[in-house]
Amino acid sequence: MRNSIGMLIGKSTRGRQPGAGALNGKAGSLCLAAVALAACLWMSPSRALATDESGYAGSSQCVQCHREIAEVQLESGHPLTLRRVRSLSRLMESVPLEFSDPRNQVAYRIERSPDREFALDLVAAKSGETDRMHLLWGMGAGRKGITFVGMTDAGAYGQSRVSWYQSTGGLDITTGLEDPVDNAYDALADWMSPPQREHCFACHTTRNADLPPERMDPASAGVHCERCHGPGQEHIQAMTQGEADAASTVVNPGRMPAIEQLYFCGACHGAPPGGNDLQALARFMVDKEVSRFPAQRLVLSRCYSESRDQLKCTTCHDPHESLVQTPASYDSKCLSCHGGDHAMASGCKVAASRCSSCHMPFEGGFMTHSEFADHWIRIVAEKKP
Ligand code: HEC
Ligand code: HEC
Ligand code: HEC
Ligand code: HEC
Ligand code: HEC
Ligand code: HEC
Ligand code: HEC
Repeated sequence: MRNSIGMLIGKSTRGRQPGAGALNGKAGSLCLAAVALAACLWMSPSRALATDESGYAGSSQCVQCHREIAEVQLESGHPLTLRRVRSLSRLMESVPLEFSDPRNQVAYRIERSPDREFALDLVAAKSGETDRMHLLWGMGAGRKGITFVGMTDAGAYGQSRVSWYQSTGGLDITTGLEDPVDNAYDALADWMSPPQREHCFACHTTRNADLPPERMDPASAGVHCERCHGPGQEHIQAMTQGEADAASTVVNPGRMPAIEQLYFCGACHGAPPGGNDLQALARFMVDKEVSRFPAQRLVLSRCYSESRDQLKCTTCHDPHESLVQTPASYDSKCLSCHGGDHAMASGCKVAASRCSSCHMPFEGGFMTHSEFADHWIRIVAEKKP
């Protein structure tokens, strides 16, 4: 199997531990109780009448009581990581977009679909032949890029062979799909079987990743509240009636011990190796592509191993917010352990600010137009060229 964007991630999380994945709803309960009743009726009339045993309330229900968090969260990468193509206004305004792949002699074009049911099509032309795919979903909030999932009139689903990249503002080949292609059809996409499709959506959805993409509910697309906090019906009922305390009715990954939280976030961001898996540890040290998976590099750091379960993802990140990208904003996190006379860890003789810029440098070269901060916090020996 080719090493596409998602496959790269999927490979490293095989055999993962319990984590966020465990919270994802399963196929049996197809409908959200509160959202899109019409869609539910269409999918399965009998189930819509029964009460929903899944326990999901729909993440839009959380807004009424947690407005401040919801307003910030809805603008961040997690919920926006999967959107209907027609709602990508910047893309819609910039079509037609063109790109040519000289190595394979393919001319690409994203244009308005002649079929009113769809917004945009990807068209590939090679050796006098053209083929097209309707674009359904944009994967990725776009801080780095957006890959499309589309379908043909014959009902085949694929991950687009070209993606849109933020740093160039245009199209380029999707990471991992650089292999030669023989014809216009194969130039369009990496065609996916149903299990491959479900895998692709798994980390970019709140639930129901197994639905055919054209039937997926936009409310389940993207990483919303209930993906991390679990189904919310019981919590909402308890809070409304004041019959139980909040902590006992909802998952709060902030309360997890460090290693447990690393596995939880790592279910999507790359799980750390099991306790004595020395082979994996060795690979995580030498393979710089692993920089894409924060938990796998963080566990290599002395900050993690010598801080007695105090360093976790939420030490430095508010998972409800967009990624903070100014090195100075992380200084206070470093100094919470490395600063002052009574600090648990030594101070730096070289500099007093912008710690992450030297100790967590960006790694690139393994994903098109992208770099990742290396979470193996350490004294980096050589300056990179
Ligand atoms: C009817 C009001 C209400 C609704 C709706 C509601 N919550 Fe809460 N929630 C509360 C209250 C009250 C608390 C306790 C005080 C606090 O932490 O804000 C709480 C606490 C929490 C906590 C912290 C638990 C802890 O460990 O202390 C989380 C997480 C949470 N809610 C998530 C959610 C999610 C996710 C949803 C939507 C599925 C939701 N809430 C919907 C009222 C509500
Ligand atoms: C195991 C979980 C997982 C799977 C499976 C997965 N992704 Fe992702 N994806 C992530 C995470 C986490 C990120 C953000 C961090 C990163 O870029 O590595 C991401 C980022 C992306 C981005 C870049 C967004 C940006 O602008 O930074 C794109 C595009 C993307 N994924 C597409 C896909 C496609 C297409 C598939 C299926 C073929 C897929 N992903 C499968 C977890 C996953
Ligand atoms: C990517 C996972 C993730 C998503 C999605 C998410 N949360 Fe959280 N949430 C967390 C974590 C982790 C914490 C603990 C933060 C900490 O302790 O620093 C948390 C804490 C909370 C708390 C406790 C109060 C607080 O600020 O610590 C509430 C309430 C809450 N979340 C509500 C929500 C709501 C509402 C949504 C959707 C709008 C949401 N969360 C989406 C991971 C998530
Ligand atoms: C000691 C502080 C620290 C800890 C702990 C930490 N991070 Fe980060 N993280 C950073 C910094 C600094 C950046 C780079 C921000 C920037 O782009 O300037 C970053 C970037 C990221 C990014 C964006 C990568 C990209 O460019 O696409 C993700 C995703 C991320 N962290 C997830 C995690 C997860 C998951 C964990 C827990 C396993 C974690 N982080 C733990 C400091 C930290
Ligand atoms: C269900 C899968 C999933 C889980 C669980 C998850 N993430 Fe993410 N996370 C993603 C994806 C997908 C993205 C890429 C968003 C995008 O397209 O830019 C992302 C992006 C991020 C970013 C960059 C945010 C931005 O706005 O650019 C940070 C930081 C991050 N995650 C931290 C965390 C932390 C910390 C946890 C655990 C509390 C966590 N994530 C749990 C899937 C997940
Ligand atoms: C939870 C506490 C904690 C946090 C937060 C933390 N560290 Fe550390 N760090 C430690 C401990 C403990 C050690 C090992 C003992 C020592 O160096 O005194 C360490 C060691 C280091 C080392 C030496 C590594 C080596 O291999 O010799 C560097 C460099 C470092 N930290 C930088 C940072 C930077 C930069 C940040 C913020 C991005 C940070 N640390 C955040 C606890 C922490
Ligand atoms: C300009 C780059 C740079 C910046 C910025 C920087 N450091 Fe360093 N740091 C270094 C170098 C280089 C060393 C190794 C010095 C040596 O071996 O004598 C080092 C060493 C360290 C050590 C190991 C000290 C020891 O005695 O073992 C720690 C801990 C550390 N830095 C933490 C930090 C923290 C915390 C910050 C932010 C307040 C920071 N650094 C900012 C370059 C930097």
